[in-house]
Amino acid sequence: MNTYKNILVTGGAGFIGGNFVRYMLDAHPETTLVNYDALTYAGNLESLADLESEPRHVFVKGNVADKRQLEDVFTEHAFDAVVHFAAETHVDRSLTDAELFIETNTCGTQRLLDAARAHGVKRYVQISTDEVYGSLGPEGEFAENSPIQPNNPYAASKAAADFLVRAAHKTHGLEVAITRCSNNFGPWQFPEKLIPLMIANAQENKPLPVYGDGLHVRDWLYVQDHCSAIDAVLHKGRPGEVYNIGGHKDVPNIEVVRKLLAILNKPESLIAFVKDRPGHDRRYAMDSTKIRTELGWTPAHSFEDSLRQTVQWYLDNREWQERARSGAYQDYYRTLYGNRPAASA
Ligand code: NAD
Ligand code: TYD
Repeated sequence: MNTYKNILVTGGAGFIGGNFVRYMLDAHPETTLVNYDALTYAGNLESLADLESEPRHVFVKGNVADKRQLEDVFTEHAFDAVVHFAAETHVDRSLTDAELFIETNTCGTQRLLDAARAHGVKRYVQISTDEVYGSLGPEGEFAENSPIQPNNPYAASKAAADFLVRAAHKTHGLEVAITRCSNNFGPWQFPEKLIPLMIANAQENKPLPVYGDGLHVRDWLYVQDHCSAIDAVLHKGRPGEVYNIGGHKDVPNIEVVRKLLAILNKPESLIAFVKDRPGHDRRYAMDSTKIRTELGWTPAHSFEDSLRQTVQWYLDNREWQERARSGAYQDYYRTLYGNRPAASA
């Protein structure tokens, strides 16, 4: 198997990208990773502090939607592969700020594809999401050939990006692969997403806002398992192909929240049912047979154990959590985009 030696990772100061950088440094001792991130509210260098003395990790501050900055980083480093995580990722924010999602997630992807092609990159992996498929009824799972039917601006901006990645392959022969993963959880997730938000609120005995009836179902995957799946697709995935990634752990939101409260030894009276999110997808479930059979990937972590470990990580890293929630990283955000809304957490 050919191992890529010089990889551009976009969005590596965020949740999954940061975990992926660490995963790759361990898994591939010959590989150098250039971590290109704009450091929006969701990304911060504090999450990467332990990598400061690691010569195989190079941080470059830059925006994926900025052609000149992209040109500079591609010219300085001769990348053989690109793994594209950088995105605006919070569905709730996309309801009020769709334009930013299109600029970063859609236009940013096209500009990155153009740069990758111009600089002769051998492999480009697009980190997409199960949300591009829309919502399921009570039965069934999404397969790679399921219709693309996004229901919110975040999902639509990611779906549009997927089509541009496909077009770069079909039109220009760029060696792309697309991964579509279900909901991740684990360390360094910004506390606006369900699991870290609920942990943070419960610690402070604040209400836990559960949207609607709480019976919306997500398929949860521990972030390390997502990282190993991306590694498999990067090195072994067939060009032009899409790979679904899921944990087969389909759980209603209210059950996740109850489990968290039980682990934290907090009362269920903290649960507050609130107005539902508009366009809220009812159920996601992934058929990941293709990556399992073709690339031999399987998740290595159980939901229950990794949920406990995740809770413990947030308890051990309260300061990180509090700084993230207080908007301490907003300065970077403002310099890039002006006065956008602060984290709602
Ligand atoms: P995140 O919000 O935690 O991190 C996003 C990172 O991208 C941050 O470090 C941010 O600073 C950076 N970024 C944002 N805009 C940028 C720009 N214009 N230029 C450069 N950097 C920019 O996100 P995450 O949860 O780690 O998600 C990473 C990727 O995985 C996204 O593409 C997302 O769509 C996808 N994904 C996420 C999940 C999930 O459950 N979190 C599931 C499936 C797919
Ligand atoms: P989230 O973590 O925002 O991920 P996504 O919307 O991308 O799936 O939300 C996961 C689920 O939890 C989703 O069904 C919305 C729900 N949710 C709540 O009920 N309350 C909350 O405060 C949040 C942030 C999410």
